Amino acid sequence: MPVKILMVCLGNICRSPLAEGILASKLPKDKFIVDSAGTGSWHVGHAPDKRSIAVAQKNGLSIDNQRGRQFKSSDFDEFDYIYVMDNSNYRDVIHLAKTPEHKNKVNLILNELFPDENVDVPDPYYGAVNGFDNVYQMLDEVADIIAKKLIEKHS
Ligand code: 4NP
Repeated sequence: MPVKILMVCLGNICRSPLAEGILASKLPKDKFIVDSAGTGSWHVGHAPDKRSIAVAQKNGLSIDNQRGRQFKSSDFDEFDYIYVMDNSNYRDVIHLAKTPEHKNKVNLILNELFPDENVDVPDPYYGAVNGFDNVYQMLDEVADIIAKKLIEKHS
């Protein structure tokens, strides 16, 4: 059974599609499945934001086949690890958790890089273009740590 990792943000068009693509590129496909979802429903069925597609492409990754979906309660059973991009996503996801096991699966992604500091991946949606480069670099750095941990733990 592959290990399943879910990346969650608000819209599922800017940050979590990048997080999904970046982490998936660092893990063997036969052992790990990476997906993403948004806590909001505005972008269900939509491709990622053009600016996320562009920054991914610039870094050699294709994320344009991804489509937005909304986070749902059954994701707590479906996935082994749930990484949220910011503190607001954390509250929204934890609110839907029904058991301590569900809650334990949820972590702020940058806590893997800065333990216990509860740092947000900033939402680049309304911001400047370099916001996307900034987000890409953060996610790439933390995905290296997550991939290493996951490969060590599940091999
Ligand atoms: P994301 O960014 O959570 O990184 O995908 C957003 C994209 C869209 C919206 C909010 C955040 N929106 O309100 O439509």
